[in-house]
Amino acid sequence: MKEMVSLLLVISIGFAMLTYSRGNSQESAKNTGTTKTIDLSPPVEKSDLSVEEAFSRRRSIRNFENVPLSLAEISQLLWSAQGITDNRGFRTAPSAGALYPLEIYVVADKIEGLSAGVYKYLPSKHELELISDGNKLAQLADAALMQAWVENSPAVIVITAVYERTTIKYGKRGIRYVHIEVGCAAQNIYLQSVSLNLGTTFIGAFDDQQVKNVLNIPDNENPLAIMPIGKYK
Ligand SMILES: Cc1cc2nc3c(=O)[nH]c(=O)nc-3n(C[C@H](O)[C@H](O)[C@H](O)COP(=O)(O)O)c2cc1C
Repeated sequence: MKEMVSLLLVISIGFAMLTYSRGNSQESAKNTGTTKTIDLSPPVEKSDLSVEEAFSRRRSIRNFENVPLSLAEISQLLWSAQGITDNRGFRTAPSAGALYPLEIYVVADKIEGLSAGVYKYLPSKHELELISDGNKLAQLADAALMQAWVENSPAVIVITAVYERTTIKYGKRGIRYVHIEVGCAAQNIYLQSVSLNLGTTFIGAFDDQQVKNVLNIPDNENPLAIMPIGKYK
């Protein structure tokens, strides 16, 4: 009887620990040697908003409430842009030859459970990788030709592209394909924002080199879109 009670106790402690670790996995940070990664919330694939309503309600929004975003909201937006939706590696947005030239970054100031910094989205793991610490939104607003409202958003998504991933197969025409792909990913972010009651705007006016400096990206990676995200005012 005594052994039975001990066994039950061990099982219930084990189960409680498993549940606890699962419950916290969405916001857990891992330090793997030189890189720090953050698990994101699993994507939600259902909502009460039809795609037609999202088309009809989509607008470019530039005034945001001074409130933080949740990590779940940013997870969902990143997934909408480039999340993997198929065991062959296909994603939420189409890609010429499935070559996936786009990279997605978050320049974060106010996201619950995430310190201010620059993060890179890792689609294969649905994780964020910390690139650099600290709030870089003032620098990003300067880079966006002084569009001051960029600095007042809680977070900004930046889409970059490595043209060679596509031009290696399609030559010069690949450049056109990469630009089309940015539009596809950005529209996903717009429509996902509507569904989350958030606002965004596609910003194309910026100094490439200054944005590269903010993100600390290599020379062959090119910023193509800046999308501030925030709650509607
Ligand atoms: C390629 C592109 C570049 C844009 N660049 C900027 C920009 O630098 N700053 C800005 O405030 N809005 C920018 N916009 C947003 C447009 O101003 C906006 O889409 C347009 O006024 C129509 O409004 P709507 O998006 O609410 O329908 C850009 C949009 C696109 C598609």
